[in-house]
Amino acid sequence: MKKKVIQSFSPEQTQNIGKICSAWLRPGDCIPLFGDLGSGKTCFVQGVAKGLGVSDSIIVNSPSFTLINCYEARIPLYHIDLYRINSEEELEDIELMDLIAGHCITLIEWPQLIIPKLHEIPLQIDFVWDMTSENRRTLVFTADSRFNDLFRSLTNDHSGN
Ligand SMILES: Nc1ncnc2c1ncn2[C@@H]1O[C@H](COP(=O)(O)OP(=O)(O)OP(=O)(O)O)[C@@H](O)[C@H]1O
Ligand SMILES: [Mg+2]
Repeated sequence: MKKKVIQSFSPEQTQNIGKICSAWLRPGDCIPLFGDLGSGKTCFVQGVAKGLGVSDSIIVNSPSFTLINCYEARIPLYHIDLYRINSEEELEDIELMDLIAGHCITLIEWPQLIIPKLHEIPLQIDFVWDMTSENRRTLVFTADSRFNDLFRSLTNDHSGN
């Protein structure tokens, strides 16, 4: 697995990074997004949704209460947030693994409990907000060789579209 570290200095940049990543995602990918509250995970998902062609009229926000939001797109997008799931038993109860379908891309916030159940993790992203700056976030990508081209296209200038 290779690592790539980049910085974002605004919500728009984080969305744009998500949009860039969307081009390399495939049906069946389950991508864990680690990071504390407010570190930018949902912001990133908004960019992925945009890149996959989710309509601008659709609001993409944290499924903290619904646990999972599904979006119609070029490849269907599942956005999961397990913040409120406290145990393996609770996770079993919602039968999430049955929902995650092979024809979808699944992005998972607060994924700690589900990690042992994932068959493979081709890409994971750790979002870090050290709070020394209101708008700076560090994104640490860990990925297999399938994402080499993504790593080349991620630079510290994401201001464009
Ligand atoms: N560079 C940045 N990237 C992303 N978000 C930023 C950035 N700078 C400031 N922000 C702000 O930080 C917040 C990030 O919120 P977001 O919902 O994406 O976090 P989250 O990691 O999903 O948190 P949670 O675990 O609560 O779901 C937003 O209010 C956003 O405007
Ligand atoms: Mg969120």
